[in-house]
Amino acid sequence: MEFIKNIDVGDTITDFFAVRWIELRNYEGKAYIAIGLGCSKGRINATYWGEDASELSSLLNDGDVVKVQGIGTEYKNQRWLKIERMRKSKPDEIDYEKLLPRGRYSPKILWRRFLKIIDSISDKYLAELLHNLFVADDNIAKKFSIYPAAKLWHGAYIGGLCEHTIRVEKICETAASFYPDCRKELLITGALVHDIGKVEELSIRGFFDYNVRGRLIGHIVLGASIVEHEIAKIEGFPKNLSTELIHLIVSHHGKFEQGSPVEPKNLEAMILHHADMLDAQAEGIQHIIQRDIQRGEKFSEYIKILGRFIYLDGYRAEKHDDNTDEK
Ligand SMILES: [Fe+2]
Ligand SMILES: [Fe+2]
Repeated sequence: MEFIKNIDVGDTITDFFAVRWIELRNYEGKAYIAIGLGCSKGRINATYWGEDASELSSLLNDGDVVKVQGIGTEYKNQRWLKIERMRKSKPDEIDYEKLLPRGRYSPKILWRRFLKIIDSISDKYLAELLHNLFVADDNIAKKFSIYPAAKLWHGAYIGGLCEHTIRVEKICETAASFYPDCRKELLITGALVHDIGKVEELSIRGFFDYNVRGRLIGHIVLGASIVEHEIAKIEGFPKNLSTELIHLIVSHHGKFEQGSPVEPKNLEAMILHHADMLDAQAEGIQHIIQRDIQRGEKFSEYIKILGRFIYLDGYRAEKHDDNTDEK
């Protein structure tokens, strides 16, 4: 993430920030806090020299949200914030939409679109399952509508999980129309629930991070267990339908080495896997274009997850007629 650009030297700001990291340091016998702060606009490093530095540092941890009053300053050519006052924020003061990176669409609009897709399902068991998961269960709904799709790669912003899921569903819907044997409602339901385990895999505090269950179990197994648990509560839910739906969840990463315990073994699972992969990679490249286009280089930085550089010049309007190496 970028540094917060709109804090200039001498600017006084009062705002809420997430604590990215915090250290109690000592300079010539005086304790002070060095702290990394973040919000939806970026990050900035800061120091606090107050008399209560030592006490305050023991109350704060990574991921906490703090209210800060400080002055923009510069140190070794880097923008810095000198904190004058700082306190831990109260839970009802925290607005995650201001603290976390934002995507192209409002999470509320995305959530409405998501609920509309649920309404389109006519199979009574699948419709009831989706309703129970995303409408009746407030806990899942709240998290699903604001969580990111991932911590760093694609959709790493508020509402990213819902946006990714909608795009995967749209790709699946189109693909379903090409193949006569495709059971569209099974596929659409699979698309809607394929990443539901992310609501248990990731934690949202001042920033997104994988939690212990996420690291030890992962969203595929967590998702399968959330859905199986809900299916068990629906009287008469057909066994085969349940097994195939769970298959769609557990096989959606496509390969053992990519975290799926089984490979796709029916038409719907195959489509879902490719739709998921297509969206993750295309959205990932879209993110790289936006992130790196201002650097003025022909190619992006090396993208480890894709094992390649991404060509950027084609996305610069003024470069369309000029992509030779000499110029
Ligand atoms: Fe996934
Ligand atoms: Fe996914």
